[in-house]
Amino acid sequence: MTTTPDLIERGAGRVAVSDKRMINARADVNQLLPMKYRWAWEKYLSGCANHWMPSEVSMQADISLWRSADGLTPDERHMIKRNLGFFATSESLVANNIVLAVYRHLTNPECRQYLLRQAFEEAVHTHTFQYICESLGLDEGELFNAYREVPSITDKAAWALERTRTLEDPDFRTGTTEADQAFLRDLVAFYIVFEGMWFYTGFAQILSLGRRGKMVGIAEQYQYILRDESIHLNFGVDVINQIAAENPHLWTSEFTAEIRTMLGEGCELEIAYGRDTLPRGMLGLSADSCEQYMRFIADRRCAQLGLAPLYGGPTENPFGWMSESMDLTKEKNFFETRVTEYQTGGTLTW
Ligand SMILES: [Fe+2]
Ligand SMILES: [Fe+2]
Repeated sequence: MTTTPDLIERGAGRVAVSDKRMINARADVNQLLPMKYRWAWEKYLSGCANHWMPSEVSMQADISLWRSADGLTPDERHMIKRNLGFFATSESLVANNIVLAVYRHLTNPECRQYLLRQAFEEAVHTHTFQYICESLGLDEGELFNAYREVPSITDKAAWALERTRTLEDPDFRTGTTEADQAFLRDLVAFYIVFEGMWFYTGFAQILSLGRRGKMVGIAEQYQYILRDESIHLNFGVDVINQIAAENPHLWTSEFTAEIRTMLGEGCELEIAYGRDTLPRGMLGLSADSCEQYMRFIADRRCAQLGLAPLYGGPTENPFGWMSESMDLTKEKNFFETRVTEYQTGGTLTW
């Protein structure tokens, strides 16, 4: 009788918490319990508690405004299209990185549990841009090709894709200093720069419109996305810091200098995008204030990773009105009351 080759190590010792590691773990990756990284599990629970779908948000007011001849200025329309054009494919780029790179190399079941939730949320976010495109009757080719056709968006996408390309190679394996640092670079590029910096100018632009009663449906959806993204960012920060703590040989002064350079590059790319998106400024937003905001955010991200600031440390947040919603230390602080409202069928208020 032939037997199937054993893929399961029969009678292996049971997994102990101390066997669990973020990367290069030898412990069985299929055993959620006993749990080591409770912060990852808490984020999974928070993500589930924040469940929403874009189609639950009414687009009627946005459709009327978009169709009216004088409801929006040409600059506002330009900003909205650039903004949607960036997000429409960015959500997919982030999702692909989670599924094709991060999930494979993060060898911990509680982190993978969160990644499965995050991957679904990115699908909900991509759905949001499909829903907006369909509701407003936008040119889908223009929207979904913006990342290839609008240079300031292409520059950002190309910068991030460079970091994930190495990891998506089927022969890529962690386990050497060089490979593990490549994985950390990918985590920094996507969690800190992409989701933690580049999304934030976009949120500020649309939420600023929403506060003034324009495109309120899109603005409400962006608030839900922001709530999700703030957990994604905090998860990424925890993952990177935990890997660094477990593997101090990776987190050298030379390597952290490289990470700071990456954050600086991400900041400059975003400033260029802000100038392209808001050439003349509107609604209390200008390319200069977006630049100041991005440097403020970049220094906050440096602090979260235990790195020295790039731009001289705490500066003033030019978008003080957003601070309550964006400058989170704990994801649950934000929208705490609104989560309840959402779950009982209410809508966000400004
Ligand atoms: Fe997203
Ligand atoms: Fe995200």
